[in-house]
Amino acid sequence: MNTTETPALTEAELKLLQTLVYQECGMYFDDRRTPFLQDRLQRRLKECRLDSFYSYYRLLTSRQGKQELSRLVENLTVNETSFFRNKAQLELFQQDVMDELLRRKEERHDYSLRIWSAGCSTGQEPYTIAMQVADAMAYYYLRRPLPAESPVPKPQVPPPWRLEILASDINYSVLRTAQEGSYGEHQMSSVDYGYRLRYFDKVGERYAVKKNVKELVHFDFHNLKTEYLPQRNDIIFCRNVMMYFDEAEQKRLVEKFYRCLNPQGYVFVGHAESLLGLTDKFQMVHRHNGTAYRRLEVEM
Ligand SMILES: C[S@@+](CC[C@H](N)C(=O)[O-])C[C@H]1O[C@@H](n2cnc3c(N)ncnc32)[C@H](O)[C@@H]1O
Repeated sequence: MNTTETPALTEAELKLLQTLVYQECGMYFDDRRTPFLQDRLQRRLKECRLDSFYSYYRLLTSRQGKQELSRLVENLTVNETSFFRNKAQLELFQQDVMDELLRRKEERHDYSLRIWSAGCSTGQEPYTIAMQVADAMAYYYLRRPLPAESPVPKPQVPPPWRLEILASDINYSVLRTAQEGSYGEHQMSSVDYGYRLRYFDKVGERYAVKKNVKELVHFDFHNLKTEYLPQRNDIIFCRNVMMYFDEAEQKRLVEKFYRCLNPQGYVFVGHAESLLGLTDKFQMVHRHNGTAYRRLEVEM
């Protein structure tokens, strides 16, 4: 075979590879998205210099094929994201959900906050959350001033509060970019000048997330298909991820989110996504044109 030619992908091979990808990461390729899958498979086959898709499947399912499997998955993910994506929903998060959470926790003298950005891509979502939580806390303490002996300058998160934002993805390459926290002008278009001034340093032509914001976010690899996911979260953001899963996988994921949340915790999903029809363990909250889902506490 000419090395520039790629062999034809048979129906049977496509089915095998489709199933393998689904089992590995939950991504489901319906008829509409099959051409995308075919294109990426062809690229990987060429890169691996194999002469049939069945040999590629054999490689992926072999012990030596683990690395190639994660490379294939990386090639199949859609990583589109932006700062302050879905502003209406973020308003609900910052103004209502954060306020309720801070009040509820303070009453119980529980000063830990844990937010998980599941499927964080290149980091714009978790950094947006960090900036918004810092602002929500500042606003909260504007109304109930901190004790006079508080440190100066005031930290982003005033003690005794502890904030952890966990940001995870299945794609190592986007996680590296996220960890760097440096963004070009075109990626900053949705960040207004107030936020740019307070939370970014201009380094040459780029904007670097300030150290004290970066310190609030911890990046890690997590595959949402697995059962071992971060526990005890107050809020989970999983936006524009579930839309690549089929209904059965979405239901499994929502069930896992229920278990990963603290009582009365919240889930935020993407604009085109919904928990309706997937579960009866969450209550929809709709305000400021934004939607969130609150964990219902089921009587045993
Ligand atoms: C379209 S981006 C969404 C980014 C961000 N949440 C937002 O809404 O702007 C979807 C992300 O989900 C990640 N993803 C897809 N399947 C995943 C899985 N099984 N486990 C973890 N992350 C996954 C992709 O790598 C990608 O970075």
